[in-house]
Amino acid sequence: MNVFIVYAHPSANSLNGALKDYAVQRLQAAGHSVQVSDLYAMEWKPALEAGEVAGHAVLAEQEKLLWADVVIFQFPLWWFSMPAIMKGWVERVFTHGFAYGIGEHSELRWGDRYGEGTLAGKRAMLMVTAGGWESHYGPRGINGAVADLLFPIHHGILYYPGMDVLPPFLLYRSDRMDDARFAAACAALGKRLDALATTVPIPFRRQNYGDYDIPAMTLKVDIAPGVVGFGAHLA
Ligand SMILES: Cc1cc2nc3c(=O)[nH]c(=O)nc-3n(C[C@H](O)[C@H](O)[C@H](O)COP(=O)(O)O)c2cc1C
Repeated sequence: MNVFIVYAHPSANSLNGALKDYAVQRLQAAGHSVQVSDLYAMEWKPALEAGEVAGHAVLAEQEKLLWADVVIFQFPLWWFSMPAIMKGWVERVFTHGFAYGIGEHSELRWGDRYGEGTLAGKRAMLMVTAGGWESHYGPRGINGAVADLLFPIHHGILYYPGMDVLPPFLLYRSDRMDDARFAAACAALGKRLDALATTVPIPFRRQNYGDYDIPAMTLKVDIAPGVVGFGAHLA
């Protein structure tokens, strides 16, 4: 398979740098082709300009997305989300007519998005390190459930242009790594990488297949009655 890693960390000598190197080596050893966009090393310009027209840098990233069978977004959790440089990559690369604003609008369809679109058929996975403990991100954890925190990325950024979203690879207590924990993390990551083609995606509901009223884009009353919030969009 073709695997595209979008990677955001300012230091090559970081935990993330080491995990990225491990992932590339593991994927290549399994026979996959790998491309990495190392956003800091590329000095990626994050700010979208007024009236920006996609230039060479943006088109090159779109080409990598079209080339990929699997797209991995790797980052340390910073203020409960992706680092700004990666958000800026999304804002500039996911252009109108590429990642949004495509497909017909009618009483039956509301464009090609949420499971349909340019990137349909591809798989995406987040690879995230977090300083907090797993329990802090549990269903009743103080930081909020990790599935809720990641919903805007999973559903709003990856599923929106059509990608199937795999459960994330998460590494907690990332500021407390020693050799044994790093070895265990690589082993766990390796299993996930080996299973990229077969892992069951998060079962987000598709937009144009009967679950939502169009054009209100609200779940029909008989679908998951009484369920509200992010979880309602899981089939
Ligand atoms: C600016 C910044 C914001 C952070 N925000 C969070 C956060 O919201 N939640 C969390 O669990 N850890 C947070 N951390 C801790 C990082 O996730 C942690 O340092 C990182 O995963 C360690 O990996 P690294 O050594 O590759 O940087 C933050 C760290 C920084 C520098």
